[in-house]
Order: sequence, then C-alpha cells, then structure tokens
Amino acid sequence: MNYIVKNTYLLTIENLSKDATGQASCGNKLFSVHGALPGELVRVKTFRKKLNTYQASLMNILRQSTVRVNPHCLHFNICSGCNLQHMPYGFQLNFKLNSLKNLIKEAALDFDRAISVIKEEQVGYRLKARLAMKWVTKKEKVVIGFRERGSGYITDSSTCSVLHERLQKIVFKLPALVEQTSVKNAAPQIEVVTDERIVAIILRHLKPLTSDDLTKLLAFCQEFEVDIYLQNGGPETVSKIGEVTQMYYEVAGCQLKFSPNSFIQVNRDINNRMVNIVLEEMNLNPEDCVIDFFCGLGNFSIPLAKHAKKVLGIEFDSDMVKLANENAANNKCRNATFIKSDLYKSEIGLDSICLSDYNKIILDPPRSGAAVLISQLNLEAASLLIYVSCNASTLMNDAKILICKYGYEISNVFLLDMFPQTIHFETIMVFKK
Ligand SMILES: C[S@@+](CC[C@H](N)C(=O)[O-])C[C@H]1O[C@@H](n2cnc3c(N)ncnc32)[C@H](O)[C@@H]1O
Repeated sequence: MNYIVKNTYLLTIENLSKDATGQASCGNKLFSVHGALPGELVRVKTFRKKLNTYQASLMNILRQSTVRVNPHCLHFNICSGCNLQHMPYGFQLNFKLNSLKNLIKEAALDFDRAISVIKEEQVGYRLKARLAMKWVTKKEKVVIGFRERGSGYITDSSTCSVLHERLQKIVFKLPALVEQTSVKNAAPQIEVVTDERIVAIILRHLKPLTSDDLTKLLAFCQEFEVDIYLQNGGPETVSKIGEVTQMYYEVAGCQLKFSPNSFIQVNRDINNRMVNIVLEEMNLNPEDCVIDFFCGLGNFSIPLAKHAKKVLGIEFDSDMVKLANENAANNKCRNATFIKSDLYKSEIGLDSICLSDYNKIILDPPRSGAAVLISQLNLEAASLLIYVSCNASTLMNDAKILICKYGYEISNVFLLDMFPQTIHFETIMVFKK
C-alpha cells in the first residue's frame, strides 16, 4: 500500500469491481471509486494507492446514472458497513448474481442452469452487530459505529438502517451511557443482539468498572429493558450483570436457544428460507444419516433430525456444542448428537466416527472455507452434500476438490441475500453423485 499526494481527477466510470466500487482509467492510471456507477462522469480525490489502483473518494457527480437511487443512510459515503445503497435493490441482486456466475465460470465448474435468488427484507434485518466505540477528545463524546471506509476511524453514527428496529432504538443511546462511566475511554467495542423480544448488549471494557458504573448500567437496562453482559478479555470472559433472559429463535418449527455471544445467522427470514431449502434438497427419509460439519448451535442439524435416522453435528466452540445438545433435548431430537472437533486442524481426529455410516452431508464453514476438511476426510459414502457458504470464492475452490476427489456433480445453486445493501451473500451449492 502506498501513500500518495491527494489529487483530483475527472473520470468516466467504466464498470464495477468485485467489491462494487466504480472503476475507471485515465492515461495509464486505474481508479476505484466507492459509490460511483458505470456511465457516470465524476470528480474524485485520490487518497491511497493499493497494488496498481488509486483509491478515490467521490467529490461530485457531473453526469448521473439513470439507475442511481439516494442512499437511505446518511453515513453511506463514509461508513464501510454498506456498499450498495446507491443501487436500486434489483440492481444489487443482479450485481451479486453476476459475481456468483463469474466465480462459477472462472472456476470452470460445470453448472449452467438458472440460480435461484432468495430475498426478503432490504433493511432492518440485522439481528446482531459488533460496533466499534471510542472516546474522541476533540468531539468531547463517545462515538459508535462501523469503521470509516478506507480509514481506521470510527464512523460517528446516529443511525443504521440495516439494524433490526429494536437494535436501532438502543444502539445510539449507548454512547451517552458509556460517557457517564469511568471506562468512557476504555470501552472499545459493543455487541448488540436481539431475538426480536429481548435486546442484549456486550460491553467490552479494558479497565475494571466501579460500583457506580454498574449502578448506571443496571439503571439503563431497567429503563430500556435491555440485558447487559460485560467482557474484559477474550470471548470466554463474557459474563452477565443482573438478571438476564434466555434468548431463542424459531427455525423450521424448532425453537433454538442461544447466548448473546453465540454465532447466529443474522437475518431471521433468510435463515428460515435457507434451512427450508436445505430440508427440501436433502429430501430425507427415515433411514438417512446426516453429518452437519460446522454445526454451530444446531441451526440445520435439529430441523434435519426431525426427518432423519440420526444427525451428527461437529463444531469447534464448546459453548456452541453445549447449546446444540440442549437444543436437541428441548426439541425432543434424541437422534441428534453433537461433538467438539477442530475441523481446521491438519489431523482432524475423527477416527472414532464411522464416516461411511453417513449418506448425506451438510457443511457450513466460516469464510475461510473447508478445504482442509474435505481434502483430509473420506466422504465417499455421501451421495448428497450441501455446502452453505458465506464466501463464494472459497466455495469455488472447495467445489473443485469435491468434484475431482469424489466425483460429485453440482445439481442446484441458490443465492440468498442474507446481507442486503452490502456486497455479501450466502450461497447454497448442492452436490450429488
Ligand atoms: C458459518 S457458522 C455456521 C454455524 C451453523 N451452521 C449455523 O447455521 O448457525 C460456522 C461455524 O463454524 C464454527 N467453527 C469455526 N472454526 C471452526 C473449526 N476450526 N472447527 C470446527 N468448527 C469451527 C463456528 O464456531 C461457527 O459455529
């Protein structure tokens, strides 16, 4: 990354990059401009050179694209949380669909059928968010928000339209609360989560809180009906203060409990659609045995267990394994069991499990994919494998391994718009042999 002299340029935007910035060239220089659309004539100011491309911010638009819409968030130009708010929703979906199709083409995967696009609410969908916080002496206040685009600063936010409305009501009251405490300049992060009944917050603090701080936090909780947790170190240090209520969400007729620091799919409606698609594609009969790799708290395993002979969920986080076992019991799924294992280890150590007993597989790894797992284990016995991915690039790499190593064919692909207004999406790829 090079730091550069800031210059202004007049550019015609030629196309959109993979991360939805407008791309343009001028002489032998390449530019990437957040918030600019193809066909637009724009004045920009460069702020950084990354690889061979100048990153530039939009100063004004001299000729506007006919598809441009007004971003609904007033922080869109600086906040890195969303990148697509200047596009109509249909345009956003097309952008994501084309990205997925291009990746499939670049990976030379054999799939030329239509990809189903699944969409729900465009705003107010996010049930969980981690926001940065900082006391800014110059502003004499605590600021809260996602990071600014292209800088380490925190966007001084007063609104965020993708957050669930219950979270929107609480989040922007938090800076004033933290300002009243002794940790106002030692509280770098806050997590907010809702199950649509309860809101919980996890306050990360770098210094101990005083009893006066605790009184203020508890008074806030009472006034706004919020559960509060503190975190003074890694995730294992999260602890509640005062009374808290158990959080639950519903999916495919099951009720799953979770903790504020558990992984949950952030978009409830899309998650429901996603789990139902998996159920339909699995087409389970009472003899089927399923492994759910990266199972979390049982989001797929428990609905699947209702239709299968047995389901085994495998997950790294022991708190999630504990929750998954409790969720299985609460939903009367005696045929679902969960075990802890690190599926990224070079020696996965699942020797005690007879993989050939399992004829159907689901895997839903983190962004880095599942190459280690699928290269190491023998998944030969599975006639059907459903891969759920939040990163289509790693999915393509893993798809190539699945096809070459096991002879699978891709039978169906779905794009789920789990994160409207951003470039991110979820993909379901169904492999059969
Ligand atoms: C994308 S989430 C999916 C969770 C679940 N399938 C769901 O739908 O809620 C990925 C899961 O992988 C787990 N995970 C991360 N690293 C892991 C590892 N090395 N081994 C096993 N599981 C891991 C995370 O704790 C998380 O629960």
